[in-house]
Amino acid sequence: SASDPDLVARALAAKEALGDRVFVLGHHYQRDEVIRFADVTGDSFKLAREAAARPEAEYIVFCGVHFMAESADILTSPAQKVVLPDLAAGCSMADMARLPQVEDAWAALEAAGIAQDVVPVTYMNSSADIKAFCGRNGGAVCTSSNAEVALEWAFQQGQKVLFLPDQHLGRNTAVLKMGLSLDDCVVWDPHRPGGGLTEQQLRDATMILWKGHCSVHGRFSPDTVDDLRATIPGVQVLVHPECRHEVVLKADLVGSTEFIINTIEAAPAGSAWAVGTELNLVKRLAAEHPDKRIVFLDKTVCYCSTMNRIDLPHFVWAMENLVEGVVVNQIEVDPETEKWAKVALDRMLALPG
Ligand code: 13P
Ligand code: SF4
Repeated sequence: SASDPDLVARALAAKEALGDRVFVLGHHYQRDEVIRFADVTGDSFKLAREAAARPEAEYIVFCGVHFMAESADILTSPAQKVVLPDLAAGCSMADMARLPQVEDAWAALEAAGIAQDVVPVTYMNSSADIKAFCGRNGGAVCTSSNAEVALEWAFQQGQKVLFLPDQHLGRNTAVLKMGLSLDDCVVWDPHRPGGGLTEQQLRDATMILWKGHCSVHGRFSPDTVDDLRATIPGVQVLVHPECRHEVVLKADLVGSTEFIINTIEAAPAGSAWAVGTELNLVKRLAAEHPDKRIVFLDKTVCYCSTMNRIDLPHFVWAMENLVEGVVVNQIEVDPETEKWAKVALDRMLALPG
C-alpha cells in the first residue's frame, strides 16, 4: 500500500478538501507512508501541546496510538473531534496498568500507612482512567521528555512516588537523573498478592515502580551495545529511556524520540550512531542523514506493531469519511474521567521547561 499512487492521491485530495478543518498529528514511530501527511510530527509531549494549541480545527486526526488520542481529546475543546484511524492501535505497555489493579495497589499503600506520603505519577503511555486516578490523588502525568522535572515536582509534594506503568522510565529517571539508588526502588507486580512486596518494603521504598514495560524497547540488550562498540569504532549509542536499565547504563545519551532526532540532526557529518528505539524512526533518520552512519541497536526487526496499524488505507478511510461529514473512530473520554485526567495533564503542562 505504501507506494499505491491511487491512495496517495486520495489522501492528498481529502486533505485539500478538508483544509483547516482538519489537523493531522503524527508520532515519530509512524510509517513513512502516513507521517508524510502529518501537519506536525512529534514526541508524546509535543503532540499533546500541539493538540491543545489548535482550537480552530474541527477534527484532529491522530496518527499514533490510543492513549495519545485520548490525551488529545482531553486537551481539546468539547466541540473538537479526535479520530484514531485504526481503533486497534493500542499500546501493550498502557494495557499493563488497569484501574482496578492500581486501586488495589493504592489500598495496600493505605494499609501500610503510607498512602498520604505517596504521589502517583503516570507516564503518558497509560489509559485516561489511570491519568484520572493520578489527578484525583494529587499526582501528575509525565512523558519521556519531562520525567525528571515531573519527579522533582512529585518529591516536592510528598516523600514517595508510585510510578506507572513503565518501570524502566521510572528506574532510569530515579537512578540516573535524581541520584536515587537501585535499593530505593521496589517493583509492584499487579499479578502477585500484595504486589509481591511486604509492608516493610513499601515503607522503606522511595520509588514504587509499576511492573510494566515496552515490548519493543525491552528487546535491546547490553550485549548488542558491546558488539556494536567493537565493530564500529567511535560509535555513539543513543537510546530511549524505555530501554532496560542495563542498556541505558551502557549508552552515551538517553532521551525521548524528539531528543533523539535533534541529537542526530546536530551531529557532525561522518559521526556514527547506534540508535535504540522503534525501527520506523531509526530507518527514517538513516535515510534523512546519508552523511552520518546510523544503525539500529538490534540485530532483529523491531517495529511497534500497534503504531504500524495506522497505515495509508486506514488514514485514507478516516479522512474520506470526514470529507463526507462522517466521523469514524472517534475517541471520546467520558466527562468525569476527562475532568481528573486533565488535572494530571495540566500539572505536567505547567512544569518548568
Ligand atoms: P516519546 O515520543 O514521548 O519519546 O514516546 C515514545 C513512545 O513509546 C510512544 O509510545
Ligand atoms: Fe507502547 Fe512501546 Fe509501542 Fe510506544 S513503542 S506505543 S510504549 S508498545
